[in-house]
Amino acid sequence: MPTIVKGPYLQHPTVSSMTVMWETAEPATSQVDIYLAERIHSGHQGNYKTPQQLLSTHSCHTYTTIHQITIDNLEPSTIYFYQLKSENAEGSVESGRYPLKTAVPKGEPFSFTVTSETGGFSGFDRSNGRINQNIFQQMQRYRPDLTLFIGDIVNDGHRYEDWETYFFGPGQSFLLSTPFYSCLGNHESNASWYYDFFAFPAPKNYYSFDYGDVHFTCLDSTSFIKPNNYPHADEEIYAGEQVDFLLKDLESADATWKIVYFHYPPYVSGGYQVEDLRKLSPIFERYGVDLVFNSHTIVYERSHPLSDNHIDENNGVVYVVAGGAGAMPEWLLPKREWHTAQSLAVPHFLQVVVTPDRLSLYAIDEEGKLFDTFIVKKGQDGHKAFF
Ligand SMILES: [Fe+2]
Repeated sequence: MPTIVKGPYLQHPTVSSMTVMWETAEPATSQVDIYLAERIHSGHQGNYKTPQQLLSTHSCHTYTTIHQITIDNLEPSTIYFYQLKSENAEGSVESGRYPLKTAVPKGEPFSFTVTSETGGFSGFDRSNGRINQNIFQQMQRYRPDLTLFIGDIVNDGHRYEDWETYFFGPGQSFLLSTPFYSCLGNHESNASWYYDFFAFPAPKNYYSFDYGDVHFTCLDSTSFIKPNNYPHADEEIYAGEQVDFLLKDLESADATWKIVYFHYPPYVSGGYQVEDLRKLSPIFERYGVDLVFNSHTIVYERSHPLSDNHIDENNGVVYVVAGGAGAMPEWLLPKREWHTAQSLAVPHFLQVVVTPDRLSLYAIDEEGKLFDTFIVKKGQDGHKAFF
């Protein structure tokens, strides 16, 4: 009988589709059933009945261990329930029925969370292994529509067990109903498991997607900064396929907000800053990027709005290091730098609430305490105001 060893988890939400993935220990078929959600309107406000109305069935009869089924023809911003089933000659296994929500259309508010380092930190400080679980539990309390991980979600990407130990295991409950994206950190080591377990848009180490009023762009900073040359960028930082992608992607982006994320931080008042990546900043500035999320230095740090390597309170880009499930106060410099607006070395995640004219960012620690708030407002003319 096949057994489920990872997931199910949700990938690549759009206004009309969702991708469901899971892993079985033995090769088996893949099937996902979609159920209509039915609200209970009295007595249990906001709850749903156990879903009984089957909407559609999606299946693939090829035997595999890593399963990926895309469900389409769904309605925007709508909750459905899904249930997976895998079968082989020895028997079958099925999951429970879990809620999923399709992406919101433009103009509709939504929220997402951001964290990282579930493996990078826990990998070398095992006494703090609960940080991962605490961060996932806290994020779940905020019921985000999707979540981003800014890399180092495992300790050694080549080690199969790590993906369960540091990421899929502690995140299991949260990831059942929260679609997510990630980027490559140095700890992923560009391992094939990253490409096998995730259904990000090709080529997966860099990609972009739209969700509501935000255009998200993910970059692979580990391909700019090679281990033998760290922390310096290769000469071709401006001449490779990835920068061509970035230029075309940001130029064609049709969204109120533009957010870019990649692992190595161009701005942080601590160790592991990768200053060479500021070579990308003129591109972010030219195309009106609002926020850049980074990680690697396991602290929280938010920059002032920056343009041309100076503070620009009118139109700058804000860089946020979301070192997430780790905290190393000793990695910080004795004093903050000129570009630092706020900084604290505590395990944390970010909650970001998006409306058509406002991005609100909240930094929350692993006990659920809010410790930083930041708001960008944008007028019809694109002019920004920071609070
Ligand atoms: Fe890292």
